[in-house]
Amino acid sequence: MPPPLGPIPSDAGAARGMALVGSGRALPAASISNDDLSQRVTTDDAWIRSRTGIGARRVAGPGETVTSLAAAAGLAALEQAGWRPADLDMILLATSSPDDLFGTAPRVQAALGASNAVAFDLTAACSGFLFALITAAQYLRSGAMERVLVIGADQLSRWLDWDDRRTCVLFGDGAGAVALEACPAEEDGLVAFRMRSDGSRNGCLTLAQVDRHQPLLGGLSAQVGGFSPIQMNGQEVYKFAVREVPAVLAELLQSSGLSADQLDWLLLHQANQRILNAVAERFSMPHERVLSNLASYGNTSAATIPLMLDEAVRDGRIRNGHLIASSGFGAGLSWGGALLRWRGPAA
Ligand code: UT7
Repeated sequence: MPPPLGPIPSDAGAARGMALVGSGRALPAASISNDDLSQRVTTDDAWIRSRTGIGARRVAGPGETVTSLAAAAGLAALEQAGWRPADLDMILLATSSPDDLFGTAPRVQAALGASNAVAFDLTAACSGFLFALITAAQYLRSGAMERVLVIGADQLSRWLDWDDRRTCVLFGDGAGAVALEACPAEEDGLVAFRMRSDGSRNGCLTLAQVDRHQPLLGGLSAQVGGFSPIQMNGQEVYKFAVREVPAVLAELLQSSGLSADQLDWLLLHQANQRILNAVAERFSMPHERVLSNLASYGNTSAATIPLMLDEAVRDGRIRNGHLIASSGFGAGLSWGGALLRWRGPAA
Protein backbone atom coordinates (compact mmCIF):
# COMPACT_ATOMS: atom_id res chain seq x y z
CA MET A 1 0.00 0.00 0.00
CA PRO A 2 1.29 3.51 -0.72
CA PRO A 3 1.87 5.80 2.28
CA PRO A 4 -1.06 7.98 3.36
CA LEU A 5 -1.63 11.06 1.28
CA GLY A 6 0.08 14.20 2.53
CA PRO A 7 -0.91 17.78 1.84
CA ILE A 8 -1.23 18.68 -1.82
CA PRO A 9 1.90 20.53 -2.97
CA SER A 10 -0.25 22.85 -4.94
CA ASP A 11 -0.18 26.34 -5.94
CA ALA A 12 -1.05 28.77 -3.25
CA GLY A 13 1.15 31.79 -3.44
CA ALA A 14 2.55 31.22 -6.93
CA ALA A 15 3.54 34.64 -8.25
CA ARG A 16 2.83 33.69 -11.83
CA GLY A 17 0.95 30.97 -13.65
CA MET A 18 1.27 28.99 -16.83
CA ALA A 19 -1.07 29.08 -19.79
CA LEU A 20 -1.71 26.27 -22.25
CA VAL A 21 -1.62 28.09 -25.58
CA GLY A 22 -0.94 25.50 -28.29
CA SER A 23 -1.03 21.80 -29.06
CA GLY A 24 0.12 19.42 -31.76
CA ARG A 25 0.37 15.75 -32.59
CA ALA A 26 2.10 13.34 -34.95
CA LEU A 27 1.49 9.70 -35.74
CA PRO A 28 3.28 7.05 -37.80
CA ALA A 29 1.67 6.30 -41.15
CA ALA A 30 1.13 2.55 -40.71
CA SER A 31 -1.96 1.35 -38.86
CA ILE A 32 -2.31 -2.25 -37.66
CA SER A 33 -5.86 -3.45 -36.99
CA ASN A 34 -6.90 -6.10 -34.51
CA ASP A 35 -7.63 -8.41 -37.43
CA ASP A 36 -4.11 -7.82 -38.75
CA LEU A 37 -2.66 -8.76 -35.36
CA SER A 38 -4.73 -11.91 -35.15
CA GLN A 39 -2.68 -13.19 -38.07
CA ARG A 40 0.37 -13.14 -35.81
CA VAL A 41 -0.84 -14.04 -32.31
CA THR A 42 -3.84 -15.99 -31.05
CA THR A 43 -6.28 -13.17 -30.51
CA ASP A 44 -9.32 -11.65 -32.15
CA ASP A 45 -11.01 -8.32 -32.66
CA ALA A 46 -13.89 -9.15 -30.30
CA TRP A 47 -11.56 -9.93 -27.36
CA ILE A 48 -9.40 -6.85 -27.85
CA ARG A 49 -12.34 -4.45 -28.35
CA SER A 50 -14.41 -5.75 -25.47
CA ARG A 51 -11.50 -5.88 -22.97
CA THR A 52 -9.72 -2.68 -24.00
CA GLY A 53 -11.69 -0.58 -26.52
CA ILE A 54 -8.73 -0.73 -28.91
CA GLY A 55 -9.40 -1.27 -32.62
CA ALA A 56 -6.06 -0.34 -34.20
CA ARG A 57 -2.66 1.12 -33.36
CA ARG A 58 0.02 3.00 -35.31
CA VAL A 59 3.48 1.46 -35.61
CA ALA A 60 6.55 3.47 -36.63
CA GLY A 61 8.19 2.36 -39.86
CA PRO A 62 11.58 3.16 -41.38
CA GLY A 63 12.46 6.83 -40.93
CA GLU A 64 9.86 7.32 -38.17
CA THR A 65 11.41 7.68 -34.73
CA VAL A 66 10.70 9.26 -31.37
CA THR A 67 12.73 12.24 -32.58
CA SER A 68 10.81 12.68 -35.84
CA LEU A 69 7.39 12.21 -34.24
CA ALA A 70 8.21 14.48 -31.29
CA ALA A 71 9.60 17.19 -33.58
CA ALA A 72 6.52 17.07 -35.84
CA ALA A 73 4.14 17.26 -32.86
CA GLY A 74 6.24 20.05 -31.35
CA LEU A 75 6.25 22.05 -34.57
CA ALA A 76 2.46 21.79 -34.83
CA ALA A 77 2.12 23.09 -31.25
CA LEU A 78 4.50 25.98 -31.98
CA GLU A 79 2.55 26.91 -35.10
CA GLN A 80 -0.77 26.85 -33.25
CA ALA A 81 0.71 29.05 -30.52
CA GLY A 82 2.11 31.42 -33.13
CA TRP A 83 5.67 31.03 -31.89
CA ARG A 84 9.00 30.67 -33.67
CA PRO A 85 11.32 27.84 -32.51
CA ALA A 86 13.85 30.45 -31.34
CA ASP A 87 11.23 31.76 -28.85
CA LEU A 88 11.49 28.59 -26.74
CA ASP A 89 13.37 28.55 -23.43
CA MET A 90 12.97 24.82 -22.81
CA ILE A 91 11.88 21.56 -24.41
CA LEU A 92 10.87 18.78 -22.03
CA LEU A 93 10.43 15.42 -23.71
CA ALA A 94 8.55 12.75 -21.78
CA THR A 95 9.51 9.36 -23.18
CA SER A 96 10.37 5.83 -22.08
CA SER A 97 11.55 4.70 -25.49
CA PRO A 98 14.26 7.21 -26.41
CA ASP A 99 16.26 7.13 -29.62
CA ASP A 100 19.32 7.75 -27.43
CA LEU A 101 19.56 6.87 -23.75
CA PHE A 102 21.73 9.96 -23.27
CA GLY A 103 18.70 12.04 -24.23
CA THR A 104 16.45 12.46 -27.25
CA ALA A 105 15.22 15.97 -26.45
CA PRO A 106 18.43 17.60 -27.81
CA ARG A 107 17.79 15.86 -31.14
CA VAL A 108 14.28 17.33 -31.13
CA GLN A 109 15.74 20.76 -30.31
CA ALA A 110 18.07 20.48 -33.30
CA ALA A 111 15.28 19.26 -35.60
CA LEU A 112 13.14 22.25 -34.59
CA GLY A 113 15.99 24.75 -34.71
CA ALA A 114 15.09 25.85 -31.17
CA SER A 115 18.58 27.19 -30.57
CA ASN A 116 17.77 29.07 -27.35
CA ALA A 117 16.06 26.15 -25.59
CA VAL A 118 17.57 23.79 -23.07
CA ALA A 119 16.24 20.33 -23.87
CA PHE A 120 16.13 17.19 -21.78
CA ASP A 121 14.18 13.97 -21.30
CA LEU A 122 11.90 13.03 -18.42
CA THR A 123 10.97 9.39 -17.88
CA ALA A 124 7.85 8.39 -16.00
CA ALA A 125 6.23 5.96 -18.45
CA CYS A 126 2.52 6.65 -18.95
CA SER A 127 2.58 9.39 -16.27
CA GLY A 128 5.44 11.08 -18.12
CA PHE A 129 3.53 13.75 -19.98
CA LEU A 130 1.61 14.89 -16.93
CA PHE A 131 4.76 14.89 -14.78
CA ALA A 132 6.59 16.88 -17.49
CA LEU A 133 3.74 19.39 -17.77
CA ILE A 134 3.73 19.92 -14.00
CA THR A 135 7.53 20.20 -13.97
CA ALA A 136 7.51 22.76 -16.77
CA ALA A 137 4.88 24.78 -14.93
CA GLN A 138 7.28 25.24 -12.00
CA TYR A 139 9.86 26.94 -14.25
CA LEU A 140 7.17 29.23 -15.64
CA ARG A 141 5.69 30.08 -12.27
CA SER A 142 9.07 30.81 -10.71
CA GLY A 143 9.90 33.34 -13.41
CA ALA A 144 12.87 31.29 -14.65
CA MET A 145 11.33 30.78 -18.08
CA GLU A 146 8.73 32.29 -20.40
CA ARG A 147 7.97 29.68 -23.05
CA VAL A 148 8.23 25.91 -22.82
CA LEU A 149 7.35 23.07 -25.16
CA VAL A 150 6.30 19.83 -23.42
CA ILE A 151 6.19 16.74 -25.61
CA GLY A 152 5.04 13.21 -24.84
CA ALA A 153 6.39 10.74 -27.39
CA ASP A 154 6.80 6.99 -27.35
CA GLN A 155 7.66 4.19 -29.73
CA LEU A 156 6.92 1.21 -27.52
CA SER A 157 6.59 -1.00 -30.60
CA ARG A 158 10.39 -1.23 -30.23
CA TRP A 159 10.05 -2.89 -26.88
CA LEU A 160 7.13 -5.25 -27.35
CA ASP A 161 7.34 -8.99 -27.56
CA TRP A 162 5.20 -9.32 -30.69
CA ASP A 163 4.48 -12.92 -29.75
CA ASP A 164 3.02 -11.98 -26.34
CA ARG A 165 -0.68 -11.41 -26.92
CA ARG A 166 -1.14 -10.02 -23.40
CA THR A 167 0.91 -6.91 -24.25
CA CYS A 168 1.40 -6.56 -28.02
CA VAL A 169 -2.27 -5.77 -28.66
CA LEU A 170 -2.27 -2.83 -26.24
CA PHE A 171 0.40 -0.39 -27.32
CA GLY A 172 1.02 1.94 -30.26
CA ASP A 173 3.40 4.72 -31.26
CA GLY A 174 2.78 8.48 -31.42
CA ALA A 175 3.57 11.93 -30.09
CA GLY A 176 1.69 14.92 -28.74
CA ALA A 177 2.87 18.33 -27.56
CA VAL A 178 1.72 21.45 -25.77
CA ALA A 179 3.08 24.99 -25.78
CA LEU A 180 3.09 26.65 -22.36
CA GLU A 181 3.75 30.26 -21.50
CA ALA A 182 4.06 32.26 -18.31
CA CYS A 183 0.98 34.31 -17.41
CA PRO A 184 -0.43 36.24 -14.42
CA ALA A 185 -1.16 33.97 -11.44
CA GLU A 186 -4.90 34.62 -11.63
CA GLU A 187 -4.97 33.12 -15.16
CA ASP A 188 -3.06 29.98 -14.19
CA GLY A 189 -3.99 27.01 -16.38
CA LEU A 190 -2.67 24.51 -13.82
CA VAL A 191 -5.48 24.80 -11.32
CA ALA A 192 -4.27 21.94 -9.12
CA PHE A 193 -1.97 18.95 -9.39
CA ARG A 194 -0.78 15.84 -7.62
CA MET A 195 2.07 13.42 -8.38
CA ARG A 196 2.61 10.02 -6.78
CA SER A 197 5.01 7.06 -7.01
CA ASP A 198 5.06 3.60 -5.47
CA GLY A 199 8.27 1.82 -6.43
CA SER A 200 7.40 -1.15 -4.22
CA ARG A 201 5.04 -2.20 -7.04
CA ASN A 202 7.59 -1.59 -9.81
CA GLY A 203 7.47 -5.24 -10.87
CA CYS A 204 3.87 -4.92 -12.11
CA LEU A 205 5.00 -3.22 -15.33
CA THR A 206 8.58 -3.23 -16.52
CA LEU A 207 10.85 -2.53 -19.46
CA ALA A 208 13.95 -3.55 -17.53
CA GLN A 209 17.67 -3.82 -18.20
CA VAL A 210 18.63 -7.47 -18.83
CA ASP A 211 20.84 -9.11 -16.23
CA ARG A 212 23.58 -10.33 -18.56
CA HIS A 213 27.33 -9.99 -18.05
CA GLN A 214 30.34 -10.43 -20.28
CA PRO A 215 33.75 -11.51 -18.99
CA LEU A 216 36.32 -8.72 -19.19
CA LEU A 217 39.64 -9.80 -17.75
CA GLY A 218 40.76 -11.77 -14.78
CA GLY A 219 37.68 -12.38 -12.65
CA LEU A 220 36.04 -9.14 -13.75
CA SER A 221 32.92 -8.81 -15.85
CA ALA A 222 30.77 -5.97 -17.16
CA GLN A 223 27.06 -5.86 -17.69
CA VAL A 224 25.82 -5.98 -21.26
CA GLY A 225 23.42 -3.18 -22.15
CA GLY A 226 19.96 -4.11 -23.36
CA PHE A 227 16.38 -4.27 -22.20
CA SER A 228 13.83 -7.06 -21.92
CA PRO A 229 10.53 -6.51 -23.71
CA ILE A 230 7.63 -4.99 -21.77
CA GLN A 231 6.16 -7.25 -19.12
CA MET A 232 2.92 -6.44 -17.36
CA ASN A 233 0.67 -7.91 -14.73
CA GLY A 234 -2.44 -6.51 -16.42
CA GLN A 235 -4.89 -7.30 -13.66
CA GLU A 236 -2.75 -5.68 -10.95
CA VAL A 237 -2.24 -2.53 -13.05
CA TYR A 238 -5.95 -2.41 -13.83
CA LYS A 239 -6.90 -2.62 -10.13
CA PHE A 240 -4.28 0.03 -9.29
CA ALA A 241 -5.66 2.39 -11.94
CA VAL A 242 -9.32 2.12 -11.01
CA ARG A 243 -8.45 2.71 -7.34
CA GLU A 244 -5.85 5.49 -7.58
CA VAL A 245 -7.13 7.60 -10.48
CA PRO A 246 -10.52 8.40 -8.95
CA ALA A 247 -8.84 9.00 -5.57
CA VAL A 248 -6.37 11.53 -6.94
CA LEU A 249 -9.02 13.34 -8.98
CA ALA A 250 -11.40 13.47 -6.02
CA GLU A 251 -8.61 15.01 -3.94
CA LEU A 252 -7.92 17.63 -6.59
CA LEU A 253 -11.57 18.59 -6.89
CA GLN A 254 -11.92 18.85 -3.15
CA SER A 255 -8.75 20.92 -2.70
CA SER A 256 -9.89 23.30 -5.45
CA GLY A 257 -13.44 23.63 -4.18
CA LEU A 258 -14.77 22.34 -7.48
CA SER A 259 -17.30 19.65 -8.28
CA ALA A 260 -17.24 17.16 -11.14
CA ASP A 261 -20.17 18.85 -12.86
CA GLN A 262 -17.98 21.93 -13.33
CA LEU A 263 -15.56 19.91 -15.46
CA ASP A 264 -15.86 20.22 -19.21
CA TRP A 265 -13.75 17.15 -19.97
CA LEU A 266 -12.23 14.05 -18.48
CA LEU A 267 -8.92 13.47 -20.26
CA LEU A 268 -7.26 10.36 -18.88
CA HIS A 269 -4.27 8.37 -20.01
CA GLN A 270 -5.67 6.12 -22.72
CA ALA A 271 -4.90 2.60 -21.51
CA ASN A 272 -8.25 0.85 -21.46
CA GLN A 273 -11.81 2.01 -22.20
CA ARG A 274 -13.01 0.07 -19.16
CA ILE A 275 -10.74 2.24 -16.96
CA LEU A 276 -12.11 5.42 -18.58
CA ASN A 277 -15.66 4.19 -18.01
CA ALA A 278 -15.02 3.25 -14.37
CA VAL A 279 -13.51 6.65 -13.57
CA ALA A 280 -16.29 8.49 -15.43
CA GLU A 281 -18.91 6.53 -13.52
CA ARG A 282 -17.29 7.43 -10.20
CA PHE A 283 -17.78 11.13 -11.05
CA SER A 284 -21.10 10.69 -12.88
CA MET A 285 -19.53 12.15 -16.02
CA PRO A 286 -21.66 11.49 -19.11
CA HIS A 287 -19.72 9.62 -21.76
CA GLU A 288 -19.85 12.58 -24.20
CA ARG A 289 -17.53 14.45 -21.83
CA VAL A 290 -15.00 11.60 -21.61
CA LEU A 291 -12.31 11.92 -24.27
CA SER A 292 -11.23 8.67 -25.90
CA ASN A 293 -9.28 7.76 -29.02
CA LEU A 294 -8.25 4.30 -27.90
CA ALA A 295 -10.12 2.75 -30.81
CA SER A 296 -7.72 4.35 -33.30
CA TYR A 297 -4.39 4.47 -31.50
CA GLY A 298 -4.31 2.16 -28.46
CA ASN A 299 -1.98 3.06 -25.62
CA THR A 300 0.80 5.38 -26.81
CA SER A 301 2.20 5.77 -23.28
CA ALA A 302 3.53 9.31 -22.66
CA ALA A 303 1.79 10.51 -25.83
CA THR A 304 -1.81 9.61 -25.04
CA ILE A 305 -2.87 12.74 -23.16
CA PRO A 306 -1.41 15.40 -25.51
CA LEU A 307 -2.48 13.36 -28.55
CA MET A 308 -6.05 13.28 -27.33
CA LEU A 309 -5.92 16.92 -26.21
CA ASP A 310 -4.77 18.08 -29.63
CA GLU A 311 -7.41 16.04 -31.42
CA ALA A 312 -10.15 17.56 -29.29
CA VAL A 313 -8.75 21.11 -29.57
CA ARG A 314 -8.50 20.93 -33.35
CA ASP A 315 -11.95 19.41 -33.87
CA GLY A 316 -13.48 22.10 -31.66
CA ARG A 317 -14.55 19.98 -28.68
CA ILE A 318 -12.11 21.64 -26.28
CA ARG A 319 -12.65 25.39 -26.41
CA ASN A 320 -10.83 28.28 -24.81
CA GLY A 321 -11.52 28.44 -21.08
CA HIS A 322 -12.60 24.80 -20.75
CA LEU A 323 -11.73 22.99 -17.52
CA ILE A 324 -10.15 19.55 -17.97
CA ALA A 325 -9.50 16.86 -15.37
CA SER A 326 -6.53 14.80 -16.44
CA SER A 327 -4.74 11.82 -14.96
CA GLY A 328 -1.72 9.78 -16.01
CA PHE A 329 -0.88 6.40 -14.53
CA GLY A 330 1.29 3.42 -15.22
CA ALA A 331 4.76 1.96 -14.77
CA GLY A 332 6.75 2.99 -11.74
CA LEU A 333 4.22 2.55 -10.48
CA SER A 334 3.48 6.22 -10.93
CA TRP A 335 0.35 8.29 -11.18
CA GLY A 336 -0.84 11.83 -10.96
CA GLY A 337 -3.62 14.22 -11.75
CA ALA A 338 -4.09 17.79 -12.83
CA LEU A 339 -6.97 20.17 -13.28
CA LEU A 340 -6.14 22.18 -16.37
CA ARG A 341 -7.71 25.19 -18.01
CA TRP A 342 -7.16 25.40 -21.77
CA ARG A 343 -6.45 28.99 -22.80
CA GLY A 344 -5.63 28.39 -26.46
CA PRO A 345 -3.71 30.66 -28.80
CA ALA A 346 -4.14 34.43 -28.66
CA ALA A 347 -6.95 35.49 -31.02
O1 UT7 B 1 -0.40 2.26 -19.67
C1 UT7 B 1 0.01 1.55 -18.56
C2 UT7 B 1 -1.14 1.18 -17.77
N1 UT7 B 1 -1.66 -0.08 -18.23
C3 UT7 B 1 -2.91 -0.43 -17.97
O2 UT7 B 1 -3.62 0.34 -17.40
C4 UT7 B 1 -3.37 -1.81 -18.34
C5 UT7 B 1 -4.32 -2.31 -17.27
N2 UT7 B 1 -4.78 -3.66 -17.52
C6 UT7 B 1 -5.68 -3.94 -18.50
O3 UT7 B 1 -6.06 -3.06 -19.25
C7 UT7 B 1 -6.23 -5.34 -18.60
O4 UT7 B 1 -5.82 -6.07 -17.47
C8 UT7 B 1 -5.79 -6.09 -19.89
C9 UT7 B 1 -6.46 -5.48 -21.08
C10 UT7 B 1 -4.28 -6.00 -20.05
C11 UT7 B 1 -6.19 -7.54 -19.79
O5 UT7 B 1 -7.60 -7.66 -19.60
P1 UT7 B 1 -8.17 -8.63 -18.46
O6 UT7 B 1 -9.62 -8.54 -18.54
O7 UT7 B 1 -7.49 -8.24 -17.17
O8 UT7 B 1 -7.68 -10.03 -18.97
P2 UT7 B 1 -6.81 -11.13 -18.22
O9 UT7 B 1 -5.38 -10.71 -18.17
O10 UT7 B 1 -7.47 -11.48 -16.95
O11 UT7 B 1 -6.94 -12.35 -19.21
C12 UT7 B 1 -8.18 -13.04 -19.39
C13 UT7 B 1 -7.99 -14.12 -20.42
C14 UT7 B 1 -6.81 -15.01 -20.15
O12 UT7 B 1 -7.17 -16.33 -20.52
P3 UT7 B 1 -7.45 -17.44 -19.40
O13 UT7 B 1 -6.18 -17.52 -18.62
O14 UT7 B 1 -8.60 -16.89 -18.60
O15 UT7 B 1 -7.78 -18.64 -20.21
C15 UT7 B 1 -5.75 -14.50 -21.09
O16 UT7 B 1 -4.83 -15.50 -21.47
O17 UT7 B 1 -7.78 -13.52 -21.69
C16 UT7 B 1 -6.59 -14.11 -22.28
N3 UT7 B 1 -5.96 -13.10 -23.11
C17 UT7 B 1 -6.27 -12.92 -24.41
N4 UT7 B 1 -7.15 -13.54 -25.23
C18 UT7 B 1 -7.23 -13.10 -26.50
C19 UT7 B 1 -5.00 -12.20 -22.76
N5 UT7 B 1 -4.68 -11.44 -23.81
C20 UT7 B 1 -5.45 -11.87 -24.85
C21 UT7 B 1 -5.58 -11.47 -26.19
N6 UT7 B 1 -6.48 -12.11 -26.97
N7 UT7 B 1 -4.85 -10.46 -26.72
